[in-house]
Amino acid sequence: MSNIIEVHDLTKKYGDNAAVSGISFAIKRGEIFGFLGPNGAGKTTTISMLACLLSPTSGSATVAGFDLRKDAREIKKRIGLVPQDLALYPTLSAEDNLVFFGRVYGLRGKALKARTAWALELVGLTDRAKDAVQTYSGGMKRRVNIAAGLMHQPEIFFLDEPTVGVDPQSRNYIFENVERLNREGLTILYTTHYMEEAERLCQRVAIIDQGKIIALDSPKALIESLHGGMIHIGFADSRLDAVLEQARELNSVRAVRRVEDKLEVESAHAQQALIGLLDLANRLDARVTSLQVYEPNLETVFLHLTGKRLRD
Ligand SMILES: Nc1ncnc2c1ncn2[C@@H]1O[C@H](COP(=O)(O)OP(=O)(O)OP(=O)(O)O)[C@@H](O)[C@H]1O
Ligand SMILES: [Mg+2]
Repeated sequence: MSNIIEVHDLTKKYGDNAAVSGISFAIKRGEIFGFLGPNGAGKTTTISMLACLLSPTSGSATVAGFDLRKDAREIKKRIGLVPQDLALYPTLSAEDNLVFFGRVYGLRGKALKARTAWALELVGLTDRAKDAVQTYSGGMKRRVNIAAGLMHQPEIFFLDEPTVGVDPQSRNYIFENVERLNREGLTILYTTHYMEEAERLCQRVAIIDQGKIIALDSPKALIESLHGGMIHIGFADSRLDAVLEQARELNSVRAVRRVEDKLEVESAHAQQALIGLLDLANRLDARVTSLQVYEPNLETVFLHLTGKRLRD
């Protein structure tokens, strides 16, 4: 598969602070590529640069074969953007909003009408098409925003945290829309801080924190990098080092490191490792002061890489 987006060392600074700090990655034509990261990680800043709304401080990128710094007009024709903050006219109906966005992109007459009907149907709002958007729920507004981003039949679709503040029904619509559009050939860049969404939707995920990509692979490969899960276990302070040394020798323990006042244990099999650790604690007369077992999932990958939770 060829790359539809290529990013080299892209950086955006505000004064001395880097919102995005030298990131490089490529998105293949036809894939759903995820950006998973906490608040302030740099997801929106990256999307805004790729959508030609924000100029990079340094670095380069091509989008659909066009240079970010030279061909903004060509890029804008080929991308659809669903911004994190809603961009709709609240007093207009969903239909009139879509007609407005379609016109901005040069659609007229029958083509505009057909595309508007298609987009309303896609997001499941045909029945409510004539009602003012201000009477919609948050989730419905979000769906109109998605429809608006698709009016000009983009090749690449940027969705920036599309499910934040959205009810479960709309969330499902959004997932199904993303999957269907992708099956029909659309390349999608999807940002989220919900690991379940990245795991379900994305073929590959870049985990991003403090403006940097800290891991990039398929969800499966990222999760497998944890082996069988992870344990945080705390001991009364004087015994921590003694346990650390011997825990390394346990079967089913892959790696142990000290994280503040706890041990972080990577295991081939979390339950077996746990039995081994508790047995070891008994033998060494070490008092367990805290214990957490983390499932092998993307949240745990993030915790392992950064020492932080995705959501605070
Ligand atoms: N216009 C700006 N001026 C100064 N700092 C900014 C500006 N825009 C973003 N930042 C900073 O850049 C960093 C990245 O912000 P960004 O909005 O890209 O994060 P994000 O991953 O989209 O977060 P969220 O999940 O909250 O949407 C943050 O520290 C933010 O405060
Ligand atoms: Mg954001």
